[in-house]
Amino acid sequence: MTDRNTEMHYTPPTSDTIQTKPFPIRGERANFVNKPHVIAMVGLPARGKTYISKKLCRYLNWIGINTKVFNLGEYRRHATTAYKCHEFFRPDNIKAMAIRTQCAVDALNDVCQWLESGDGEVAVFDATNSTIERREMIHDIVVKKMGFKLFFVESVCDDPEIVEQNIMEVKVSSPDYANMNKEEVLADFMLRIEHYQEKYQALDESKEKDLSFMKIYNTGEKVLVYKHEGHIQSRIVYYLMNIHIVPRTIYLTRHGESSMNIDGRIGGDSDLSDRGRSYAKALAEYIEEQDIQGLRVWTSWLQRTIQTAAGVNAPQERWKALNEIDAGICEEMTYEEISSKYPTDFAARDQNKFSYRYPRGESYEDLVARLEPVIMELERQGNVLVVTHQAVLRCLLAYFLDKSADELPYLQVPLHVIMKLTPVAYGCKVERIRLPIDAVDTHRPKPKIMGYLEPRFRRKGNNLHI
Ligand code: ATP
Ligand code: F6P
Repeated sequence: MTDRNTEMHYTPPTSDTIQTKPFPIRGERANFVNKPHVIAMVGLPARGKTYISKKLCRYLNWIGINTKVFNLGEYRRHATTAYKCHEFFRPDNIKAMAIRTQCAVDALNDVCQWLESGDGEVAVFDATNSTIERREMIHDIVVKKMGFKLFFVESVCDDPEIVEQNIMEVKVSSPDYANMNKEEVLADFMLRIEHYQEKYQALDESKEKDLSFMKIYNTGEKVLVYKHEGHIQSRIVYYLMNIHIVPRTIYLTRHGESSMNIDGRIGGDSDLSDRGRSYAKALAEYIEEQDIQGLRVWTSWLQRTIQTAAGVNAPQERWKALNEIDAGICEEMTYEEISSKYPTDFAARDQNKFSYRYPRGESYEDLVARLEPVIMELERQGNVLVVTHQAVLRCLLAYFLDKSADELPYLQVPLHVIMKLTPVAYGCKVERIRLPIDAVDTHRPKPKIMGYLEPRFRRKGNNLHI
């Protein structure tokens, strides 16, 4: 039996009740300009905390900030046997509360270890963190003990329709509910929310004046930002202000085959080939058949994308940022010509294709930076068709499909294929629609056996002079 009036207070990690591994000693990293960050989520269950955590993590990794999510639900499932019902979350369930607090300490310990280990820059602590007491504990560990930066992100949602929709979309397939039908899940989850509601204390600047935080109301209808500090937090705030959850579809395609594609030459600004023009016609027909509400079309400034989109019946915008990677001194050459004229450069690109920058041109890393405003605007938009280029599409796909910098430059983006992206649960579904018009293959796979490359050419972000 549990005593409804007994509260479980947070006990500092040195007490007998909570077993801690020693927290890592604060290292030199604490003095760095870009201190490691902990982003701690706040909010009742089914308020989109995991969704926001995962999406933020994908974005930060894509812009080159090494980020990882630590989900407290996973620690709890690991520490307990199969979930039975909402009773586990009653605030007067002392045994369960002790387990939950221990899990939070364990997760925070892992957060700190990971940030302290060197590579980690931002850890997202995905939990409800719904009481002042819990947030004090996080602040003590993260800021006072470790010297890291801490930023809370609270999702507030009082729209019952959204909450129910969230439960039906993601909670019915949660490992907690493997053996329940949808109605049982909904009923149990609503009771779980009620238990949290009993003790929930929303972030409030008059009560927690020293914390830095942002609050997102009803999926972005209103946003409040309090005491945010520095570059990383500003980017997080800006990004989270731009995302929305209204269903929509993004269509991505390369231009139709161009005359330079046929010659195997990279870059340039050539016209479409005959087959490329057939693709443009077929694309316009495909889009017409789909009857997409409020569709907008974006192209680059290059002729081959403008010609490809010309027949599509929707408002069009040209983005210079969508232009193909600038191959600098290698523009308009074939790969064979580059390998014989600039063999060291050619080998260097194969060693680290993401960071390699063409002399007087760009790297994939540069391209990601150039495309950030495009991603931000795509996040704000409804249905969009983007007609662009091979390297650009690899960067956009890596963002939507959470691909690493190593995989990014080798993603398959064939000509005459439409990629239809639909947001689902915590990610994105991708369908590839190949229109029946032949085209050359411009994909150059990673060579299996790499030649020797002098160490001075192996560094990240190399900018070779030939
Ligand atoms: P729990 O505390 O049980 O882990 P949670 O708060 O992490 O729940 P999620 O699992 O992230 O909730 O819920 C996912 C759903 O939330 C998705 O269907 C998504 O569309 C929706 N969602 C995303 N952002 C928000 C938001 N700001 N407010 C409410 N719902 C949102
Ligand atoms: O070959 C077509 C093309 O779009 C070139 O303009 C561009 O340089 C190249 O693809 C990018 O692919 P990769 O990075 O594999 O060379």
